[in-house]
Amino acid sequence: MSESTSRDGAAAPVITIDGPSGSGKGTISQAVAQQLGWHYLDSGALYRLLAFAALHKGVALDDATALVALSARLACDCCLPTAADPAVRLEGRDVSSELRTEAAGEAASRIAALPAVRAALLDWQRNCRKPPGLVADGRDMGSVIFPDAGLKIFLTASPQVRAERRYNQLKNMGKEADLAALVSEVEARDRRDATRATAPLKPAPDALILDNSKQDVTATVAAVLEAARKKF
Ligand code: DC
Repeated sequence: MSESTSRDGAAAPVITIDGPSGSGKGTISQAVAQQLGWHYLDSGALYRLLAFAALHKGVALDDATALVALSARLACDCCLPTAADPAVRLEGRDVSSELRTEAAGEAASRIAALPAVRAALLDWQRNCRKPPGLVADGRDMGSVIFPDAGLKIFLTASPQVRAERRYNQLKNMGKEADLAALVSEVEARDRRDATRATAPLKPAPDALILDNSKQDVTATVAAVLEAARKKF
């Protein structure tokens, strides 16, 4: 029995939750993983962590060779969020809030467009598949990383609603925010993630599309769990 398979040799079940920034994937995926007692993969944290480490170590964001070498070292030095502990640790230090900055998100989006970087992070993500199951959140979880996932969700909300969520987050942190500028940023990020040549953001053909513009977290989690109950 390999680590990714159950006692009967079957691959551990996977639910993929893909979608754009601000769709609530992180919150929903963690809640679903917790309720099912499954593992949780925040793949965006991997891209943010690699971008953050590159910025700190002076590695250029377009130097694919150096980024690939850095990702191999990172795999040993970091702890990714789990359903029980949402912190991201690098060399033992909690860097979660530094990874959520606009600068880290922007840098993550740039390195995520490099095919060699995406290839270097592939096995790391697939190795997170372990019994009793995995909830994987990202952009290409259902289309590229786990194409055989038993349930694929594409979670989305309108750019206006996603920008408003970000606006409220920033205000709650006591930061200045400009809603119109945030709407433009959300739209620009969507365009770049959706039009890049490698693994563009788009629903897998067999994904269930959920628009949660008018739905709260509890209702969205319930919708995903209901879909899971029918599949597993
Ligand atoms: O989900 P997030 O905002 O933490 O992701 C940060 C960036 O990483 C985002 O611009 C898209 C990219 N990303 C990706 O290309 N593929 C993934 N599976 C996850 C994130």
